[in-house]
Amino acid sequence: MLQGRRVVLGVSGGIAAYKAIEVCRRLVDAGAHVSPILTEAATKMVGLPTFNALASERAKTSLWDDSDVIPHTKLGQNADLIVICPATARCIADLRIGRSGDLLLATLLATEAPVIVCPAMHTEMWNNPAVQENIAVLRQRGVTILGPGVGRLAGGDDGPGRLAEVDEIVEAVASKLAGATPERDLAGCTMVVTAGGTREPIDPVRYLTNRSSGRQGHAIAEIASRRGAEVILITASRLPAVGVKQRVEVETAAEMAAAVAEHHDQADVVVMAAAVADFRPAEVAQQKIKKVDGPPTITLVPNDDILAGLGKSKRSDQVIVGFAAETQDLESNAAKKLADKGADIIVANNVAAEGTGFEHETNAVTIIESDGTRHRVGLTSKHEVASAVLDVVSACRTSR
Ligand code: CTP
Repeated sequence: MLQGRRVVLGVSGGIAAYKAIEVCRRLVDAGAHVSPILTEAATKMVGLPTFNALASERAKTSLWDDSDVIPHTKLGQNADLIVICPATARCIADLRIGRSGDLLLATLLATEAPVIVCPAMHTEMWNNPAVQENIAVLRQRGVTILGPGVGRLAGGDDGPGRLAEVDEIVEAVASKLAGATPERDLAGCTMVVTAGGTREPIDPVRYLTNRSSGRQGHAIAEIASRRGAEVILITASRLPAVGVKQRVEVETAAEMAAAVAEHHDQADVVVMAAAVADFRPAEVAQQKIKKVDGPPTITLVPNDDILAGLGKSKRSDQVIVGFAAETQDLESNAAKKLADKGADIIVANNVAAEGTGFEHETNAVTIIESDGTRHRVGLTSKHEVASAVLDVVSACRTSR
């Protein structure tokens, strides 16, 4: 399957380095020429003789320990693919800033081959905003980030940060090398994505809003763009959104409804990830409400339900995706919203559980299709949740 393909297997210094031995063996068995590069820290975790015995050539660790004075350019230029397994937070940070501190990093800088990064670290490290930002930048540059999975970690902890399974890593290498481009499966698709919590003004200085940060919607917009979709992002969030074709900034539910109305006709897919305020103050005071006048009575009136409107007017070729923010009876409430609002897919989001929903870097969801099929996504990054949602969207489009 991988006959003659040259794979550089980068191993950095995490406990999961022992799994790289199995990856090495499986790639060699599949016919690949595997050149291992271990960082110095990796050699504390696993032995060079093991790689020497199993790989297609001796494992390398340094720019200086070879008769070849420029091993990094040779390895980088000759590689058909580089997979880093495991990738530590430090390795990811070095790759992001382009620091060529060791043979692995120098090789990564000297290659034009596709790169697959398989992060493995403790949950707290993975969730750290610096790590997440580094990952986001690498993704934008076209680096494939595989995993991490969720499960048991070194030291008895449990959570996101576990190295992707060996099967997944070998399969990802094979599919990249086969020229498969699963990540361009949304090419030709125009997608409207809404994000963020709307703000409903009370007076010139105050508003009603909710805890939505816009992260999940922006992650969907970014990943869909990377997978080839032309994304129109309608957002109440100030977060960046890399790669989108058009960004429309809105504040209120009414502005969001107007922007959706303007763009939804051209959309093949609409994803309503925004937390749209259900109510707005009936009147917006023109001047700041003064406290000497005593506590004000604020009368609320309902906003239009944008998703329900889309569900009613959708074309047969359109896929409409809603989110259900719930704090109890998650899947049954979400399934009811799916039916009531005429969506094709609903993403059930427990916004009260540990590490999920609003204001978190991570999320866990159940994606429910209109035929009742359910896909459960355990606690992971919002980008991974976005990928899972888009997988279901993509399959739904293909089946039509
Ligand atoms: N939604 C919408 N317009 C609104 C309210 C919600 O389009 N005025 C969309 C959201 O973007 C989301 C879905 O409807 O995709 C469900 O939103 P959610 O806040 O979970 O539920 P609500 O319909 O507002 O019902 P409730 O607040 O009672 O749970």
